[in-house]
Amino acid sequence: MRIGVLASGEGSNLQAILDQAHGRDGVEVVAAGSDKPGARALERAQAAGIPTRAFPAADHPDRRARDLAIAAWLEAADVELVVLAGYMQLLDRAFLARFPGRVINVHPALLPAFPGIGSVEQAVAYGVKVFGVTVHFVDEGVDTGPIIAQRAIELPEARDPAEVRSALRPLEHALLTEVVRLIARGAVAPDPEDPRRVVVGRYGAAE
Ligand code: GRF
Repeated sequence: MRIGVLASGEGSNLQAILDQAHGRDGVEVVAAGSDKPGARALERAQAAGIPTRAFPAADHPDRRARDLAIAAWLEAADVELVVLAGYMQLLDRAFLARFPGRVINVHPALLPAFPGIGSVEQAVAYGVKVFGVTVHFVDEGVDTGPIIAQRAIELPEARDPAEVRSALRPLEHALLTEVVRLIARGAVAPDPEDPRRVVVGRYGAAE
């Protein structure tokens, strides 16, 4: 399965995919794109020999035009699955139409709680005691697509968002790479009787 990854920042989730999924079980990362030309994620991809490209907003008349340029670039690489790994932009519906049911995202909260940006800060401020991460299909809303998998951690004393983020990071990396490998294996499918529900074979079989 040919994968395109979009990332805006550090790229630790991209690195996890490169280290734990790329080149195995039919998973191949063939493109890594970013809205930020200086993103560390692009350096990580280049170091792994993956073609990269930046799509800064200033190079395009609007977001839709930028997103269509990204879609065309991914299509030219024959990408079958788009992974948003810390991509901090909303994608235009025209982009999603090019990859129907084939865009996934990792989010550092137990959706539907705390969607959008600043989710860890919001969860800490709310006083939650169980934190977690979600991998979901992307639809036109903000972190509203059908949930593929979630993983939780109890942090009853949490007061520092940075500490929570550090605790969540390994969960994200494990869950995202697991889902990528499951999708490549054909083990992830929408429930034909309920489009909100995603059926996942061998769920929990962490590598
Ligand atoms: C992750 O916490 C992801 O859930 C969020 O942005 C962060 C990206 O981290 N959407 P990285 O760039 O993969 O290190």
